[in-house]
Formats: sequence, structure tokens, C-alpha cells
Amino acid sequence: MSKQFDVIAIGGGPGGYIAAIRAAQLGFNVACIDEWKNSKGGPALGGTCTNVGCIPSKALLQSSENYEQAGHHFGEHGIEVKGLSLDVPKMIGRKDTVVKQNNDGIAYLFKKNKVTFFHGRGSFVAAKNGGYEIKVAGASEEVISGKHIILATGSNARALPGAPFDEVNILSNDGALRLGAVPGRLGLIGSGVIGLEMGSVWRRLGADVTVLEGLPAFLGAVDQQIAKEAHKAFIKQGLKIELGVKVGEIKSGKKGVSVAYVDAKGQTQTLEVDKLIVSIGRMPNTIGLAPETVGLKLNERGAIVVDDECKTNLPNVWAVGDVVRGPMLAHKAEEEGVAVAERIAGQHGHVNFNTIPWVIYTHPEIAWVGQTEEQLKAAGRACKVGTFPFMANGRARAMGDATGMVKMLADAATDEILGVHIIGPYASELIAECVVAMEFRASSEDIARICHAHPTLSEATKEAALAVDKRALNF
Ligand code: FAD
Ligand code: NAI
Repeated sequence: MSKQFDVIAIGGGPGGYIAAIRAAQLGFNVACIDEWKNSKGGPALGGTCTNVGCIPSKALLQSSENYEQAGHHFGEHGIEVKGLSLDVPKMIGRKDTVVKQNNDGIAYLFKKNKVTFFHGRGSFVAAKNGGYEIKVAGASEEVISGKHIILATGSNARALPGAPFDEVNILSNDGALRLGAVPGRLGLIGSGVIGLEMGSVWRRLGADVTVLEGLPAFLGAVDQQIAKEAHKAFIKQGLKIELGVKVGEIKSGKKGVSVAYVDAKGQTQTLEVDKLIVSIGRMPNTIGLAPETVGLKLNERGAIVVDDECKTNLPNVWAVGDVVRGPMLAHKAEEEGVAVAERIAGQHGHVNFNTIPWVIYTHPEIAWVGQTEEQLKAAGRACKVGTFPFMANGRARAMGDATGMVKMLADAATDEILGVHIIGPYASELIAECVVAMEFRASSEDIARICHAHPTLSEATKEAALAVDKRALNF
């Protein structure tokens, strides 16, 4: 007889592994199937996020920022660095160690929570006895059964037509995170989150970076006041960003890659680079799940169709994370995973899509929650705006990192905070206070009345809240 489980999670990224742990905490007998392989063919739990996404990109962003600081900014502090040098393989090795620590951490958590792990590809075999049979194809093959199935198979990088990823010259996020040397000239297609983070890493390490973006506006989804500030900062750092281009033929050869494109003025241009990163968004991944065997419904983009509660069209089959609608973010996948496990247990798991924070880990960092000024205007919702520049914040000046601002938007009538947009030092950490405030439906006055420690960057958030009422104290 096949092994029986109450819950089987297919996919061991942030959606699947967190769902598995939460379901186990709730007393279920849980399995998680994941097919990711490390360089030795063994398991590497954590999905895109841990292996080729959030974690390795942040490791390289940190290393490259340290190099940039030592090379260009320590002098301002009276610290002279002589003979500064760069060891890219060592930097990549450190990143790999950080990844492995995270892989091992999840394996440990599975043991601790008694989640049974299967290394291999999970696919539907049949619906049977009110549950489902799932084939696991790894080093060997077996069929296991589960009453509830949580699909968390994530996403893959989208390639440009006619330019498949070879991970040597034309790179996805995977190849972009394991270059053995700094490319002299690096091209990026797409100035979204990956384009800006990966472009920043390799520019700091010495590459001449050009980013080609299809849309005429820079960071179109971001509050445009913040996006303009970001654009200015990145140009000053030396990133070349061309907006409104139409990318044509891409040729890859021994000498590198050439990209034909039409620029915003309608002129035909060619970009010659040593390496090209294509970061034009990601596609939901259901390859190998065999959705047709059980009639699992997908939409035209290949995403699994779910309702607000992550239920698919099949009874007791749920789907979370990048493989369903909504932002492709690790914390969104985790929240959905927890909510689904709780719903299976008969509880009222919930995810508030209005308060999911976004962070772009460039320098300066960009972070936001809630609506932009443009979205509020388009919706006809009157709002008050308060901004406070880090230039007027004592801690930011002491750190020598005073670019950017906090911008708070509050309802004109009720003063409820509707959005907060930050560009500046540790925006990624500062945004948490704003998420909490919005979850509790705080007003800007609530933040303005709370005592914030001095000198901290968080005082800029308080001052932005005061500025909503036109009474900032330090600006
Ligand atoms: P994934 O993490 O993609 O995991 C899916 C897992 O399922 C994989 O291990 C896959 O091998 C496995 N799988 C697929 N099919 C099967 C099958 N049939 N059988 C068995 N296993 C299967 N998000 C953030 O919030 N913050 C960041 O800083 C951030 N940085 C990023 C940087 C980069 C370069 C990239 C590419 C992404 C980044 N993201 C970030 C996005 C984040 O990685 C994803 O949103 C997140 O990983 C989605 O989690 P998931 O569990 O849905 O899928
Ligand atoms: P993205 O959606 O962020 O950006 C893609 C960019 O490419 C857009 O600006 C788009 O207009 C442009 N584009 C699309 N087609 C194009 C074409 N043919 N020519 C030129 N430009 C084109 O996607 P990206 O950067 O690939 O990242 C994928 C996802 O991964 C993100 O949306 C995000 O969900 C996640 N991610 C999150 C991070 C974070 O939270 N810090 C970091 C990295 C990725």
C-alpha cells in the first residue's frame, strides 16, 4: 500500500515548505516533495527564493555594497584603503555557503516538525478515495497518497523569443548569480526588480551596465515621485538606463551578445555586451505536475486558477505562491501557505493583499506598502501627502547615507494611512512599521504621536506623518 498523508505539499519553496511546517504544527501527517538539485545532485530545499532568488541576490548585494563602500566611501570617514582587490570566485563561494545554510535550515525544520521529505518530481496520478495519488520521480519512483494537496511549484524566468537562456552568454537570474568574473560590458533587458538588483551588483563590482526597458516610464508600478528619485540615483551611480525601447534580434557568439533595438526616438541601435541578463518577468511553473490527469484548471498564462482562499477547481487541492495570481514575492507565498494550512484545519487563515510590502534592495533601497499617489488619484480618492527627506534626518547624515525620503499618503477626510513609499537607507526595515500601522488601520496622526527613538531612521517616518498635517518639526 502507498504511504498515506493528510497533506502533501508539492514544491519546497517558501510557499510549500512553510505550508508543510504550519500543517504539521496543526497536527497533520505531512509530506513535502521538491525536485531542486544542488551541484552534487542532492536536495536543496527552499526553491527559487533560497537557491537562485531572494537569498543569493541579497548575499551578493551585500558583498558588492561592501566593495563599493571600501572603494569609494570609506575615505569620507577618514579610512584609507590601500590595495583593495576583488576575488569574485570567493564572493560567489560565500554566497553559495549562505544558500547552503538556508537549505540545511529547512531540512532541519522538516525533521523538527516531522514533515516527511521526498526528493523528486511530484505529479498527479489520479483522484482516488476522496484524495489523490501522487507519483514521486527521483532517484527511484514511488506513489504516495494525500487527502489534501498544496501546489507550490513556483515560477521560472521568462525568455525573449529567439533568445533562449544558455546561462553562459544569455543569463536568467540563475546565471546572473554565478558569474565567475566581472563582465566588462553587461546588458540587461528589463529594468524591473531583478534588472535593478543584478545591475547594481555587477556595476558595483566594475561592469559597464546598460539596461534596456520596454516601457516609457521607469518603475511604472512604483509611486512616481519615488521612481524619479530612484532613477536619478541610479544614473548618478553609473547605470545606463534606456526607456521605451523595442528589443529586436539578439545574437550570441564567441565575442558576446549583440542586441538590436529601436530606441525611444525610433532610431535603430545595437548594444554589444559580453553578457546579457534577461529579466522581463517570470512565468508560473506547472511543468511536470501532469495537471491534465486530474483536470486541474490553468489560465492562459499557465497559472493555476484559484479563488480568494487559494482553492483550485478540484476538491481539497490548493495552490499558493508564484504559481497563482498576485505578486511573485516570497512573503506572499509564505502567507498563503500558512493560510491554506489553517483553512485545511478548519481555521480562518487570511492574507491581506492591501498590506503586502514590496522592497527593491538597491542602494538606496526602495520599499512601499499600500497605494501610490497615482493610484489614489485615478480612483478619485482625495488624500493628504506628507514627505520627509533623509537629508534632514540626523542618523542618516551620521551614516553618510542621506539620499531619499519617506512619503506618506493619508485619506483627506479620515486621515487613515493609505500608502507609504520610502527610498533611502534601510527602507526594507522601515517599511515594517508602516505595514503594522496599515494592518491596524492607523491614521497618520497615530504615527505622528508615537515616540520614536532618537537618532533613528524611523524618525523620518514619524516626520512624514507630521508632514501630512503640515507640521514636520525638522524640515
Ligand atoms: P519557488 O520558490 O519557485 O519554489 C517552487 C519549488 O517547487 C522549487 O523548488 C521547484 O523546484 C519545485 N517544483 C516545481 N515543480 C515541482 C514538481 N512537479 N515536483 C516537485 N517539485 C517541484 N521575493 C521576495 O519576496 N524578496 C526578494 O528579495 C526576492 N528576490 C528575488 C530575487 C530573484 C533573482 C528572483 C528570481 C526572485 C526573487 N523573489 C523575491 C521572488 C521569490 O523568489 C518568489 O516569489 C518565491 O520563491 C516564490 O515561492 P514559491 O514557493 O511559490 O516558489
Ligand atoms: P519585473 O516584472 O519586476 O520587471 C520586468 C521588466 O521588464 C518590466 O519593467 C517590464 O516592462 C520589462 N519588460 C518586459 N518585457 C520586455 C521586453 N520585451 N523588452 C524590454 N523590457 C521588457 O520582473 P523581473 O525583474 O524579471 O522579476 C520577476 C519577479 O521576481 C518580480 O516581479 C518580483 O515579483 C520577483 N522579485 C522580487 C524581488 C524583491 O522582492 N526584491 C527581487 C527580484 C525579483
